Amino acid sequence: MTVKDKIQSLKEKNNAIILAHYYVPADVQEIADYVGDSFYLSKVATGTDADILVLCGVSFMGESAKILNPDKMVLMPDPDADCPMAHMADAERIRKLREEYDDLAVVCYINSTAELKTLSDVCVTSANALKIVKALPNKNILFIPDENLGQYVASKIPEKNFIFNDGRCPIHAQLKPETLAEAKKAHPNALALIHPECVPEALALADYIGSTSGIIDFATSSSNKEFIICTEDGVMYELQRKNPDKTFYMVSEDFVCPGMKQITLDKVIDVLENKTNQINVDDKLRADSLAPLQRMLELGK
Ligand code: 13P
Ligand code: SF4
Repeated sequence: MTVKDKIQSLKEKNNAIILAHYYVPADVQEIADYVGDSFYLSKVATGTDADILVLCGVSFMGESAKILNPDKMVLMPDPDADCPMAHMADAERIRKLREEYDDLAVVCYINSTAELKTLSDVCVTSANALKIVKALPNKNILFIPDENLGQYVASKIPEKNFIFNDGRCPIHAQLKPETLAEAKKAHPNALALIHPECVPEALALADYIGSTSGIIDFATSSSNKEFIICTEDGVMYELQRKNPDKTFYMVSEDFVCPGMKQITLDKVIDVLENKTNQINVDDKLRADSLAPLQRMLELGK
């Protein structure tokens, strides 16, 4: 039996579905039922009849799926696959700022722990942050934990007052604008597509700024034939699959998220066979972190 056949039969036996982020290894994306960005995966997680969700991604994704689906079993192939940025905000500072500004909205990137979500008014992803922050009635916005995404959103919504947080993605934030400038020189006909977790100086050099799905959709619908990709290299699988006639250059070889790459086919088989690595979120934490996620799904529609 091939690995693919084995996974298929385990899925059928357990009424399970496999959800994968675009950053996990290509062979895992290949066997997944749904592959997408964080917003897409959280939407899929709420609208399924499956009994078991296997979340191929980092821990905040499994946790969010469980918060949205307390009655389903959520399995993570590797529970230690983590997003360091998810922990980068200080609860005490959030509380103090709430006292200082009575109309403060705490906007929390979904790349965050459930504890941080409990301190927030609404969650966002890179695909819906602009739309959601624009729709909020509040003038004062505390954006956690990603300063770079916050700066990008603020640059598009000048009528609001933004307060930023000292947090960032260690993978996206390491891209230097000079590296992108060199790639553009080496490939003068290519359009540069970038994720908003990168620093503002790099965003300023790009032709398109968007989430992972935004980047894939832009490249797919563009009549251009060459692209410089400024996000995690897992997106190359979908970009090349959808666009066999186009050429994609990774801006840098360092664009690899270690947490996402911890997900392997063997680990997927293991959790499906043994029901190991079940995600549990205690009732109080779940109750307090649910509202910002639901508000995101509502406002992001
Ligand atoms: P997306 O919102 O584009 O899925 O990005 C998630 C992420 O982890 C980016 O680093
Ligand atoms: Fe977190 Fe960055 Fe990895 Fe995305 S790429 S999961 S933000 S560490």
